[in-house]
Amino acid sequence: MAQQLELIPLHPVASPFLKWAGGKTQLLKQFEPLFPPKFERYIESFIGGGAVFFHLFSFGRIREARLSDNNEELINCYQVVKTDVSELISLLKTHQKCHNEDYYYHMRSLQPIDLSLVERAARILYLNKTCFNGLYRVNRKGQFNVPIGSYENPAICNEDALTAASRVLENVTILHADFEECTNAAQTNDFVYLDPPYSPISETANFTQYTKDGFSGKDQQRLATVFEQLTTKNCYAMLSNSDCEPIRQLYQKHHIETVRAKRAINSKATARGAIGEIVVRNY
Ligand SMILES: C[S@@+](CC[C@H](N)C(=O)[O-])C[C@H]1O[C@@H](n2cnc3c(N)ncnc32)[C@H](O)[C@@H]1O
Repeated sequence: MAQQLELIPLHPVASPFLKWAGGKTQLLKQFEPLFPPKFERYIESFIGGGAVFFHLFSFGRIREARLSDNNEELINCYQVVKTDVSELISLLKTHQKCHNEDYYYHMRSLQPIDLSLVERAARILYLNKTCFNGLYRVNRKGQFNVPIGSYENPAICNEDALTAASRVLENVTILHADFEECTNAAQTNDFVYLDPPYSPISETANFTQYTKDGFSGKDQQRLATVFEQLTTKNCYAMLSNSDCEPIRQLYQKHHIETVRAKRAINSKATARGAIGEIVVRNY
């Protein structure tokens, strides 16, 4: 009888360990033909849940990577998953046992500054898995203010997913930084994927505040300047954003494709629809 060959992936397969608004998992199939076939380093400066990074890594397309975000709590999660995953898993198991409404609001009220780095990461992962819609939203003082979600039995500690992510992140550079700082290091033939907070398409659309400073029209222009600098340096640059005239204007010299994504399109999370987003590429 012919022996069946077992297919063993070359790299540990991992996927996002956090739910993140604007996550790209549902778009990966549409993105696949748009990625450059070959590149040197991979750079992603609005990492969020990291759907694109984990996808490309799992398919053996990334040898060296530099990831960043300016959300300090999020980046601390990546650093702790990378360096201290066993302790993180043990704290999450405790949160899993203790979870109820009072416990959620107690954890939410804690000040990150009073906790160790691993406690901070466990708190954010716990809140992420149990809060309303997995949203990350802070008030002007930077305090997490999302109410509890209505899950029957939320999976708070996914040990396998965290361990796989930890292995993937082993040799990856992770920075808490503004996007300009992270992309400054890009060199010829590096692939830079940029997924900023989207330009609002309506008055009510811009309800996701990932950090206390938000992302303004000036930031969108600053990002377009970075995109031009990457083009001058002969990097492969790919950017996602909402499909609206001001953004199309900023990138009119480049290739623009439309993709369809299901998103919460206004402040009511129940109001979901497939909306057009654009992907801009300089190659
Ligand atoms: C649309 S989300 C990225 C989603 C991600 N691609 C995914 O698949 O989950 C945008 C991210 O940009 C980050 N961000 C906002 N302003 C930033 C800035 N000035 N520099 C770097 N990151 C920023 C937010 O914290 C958020 O994680």
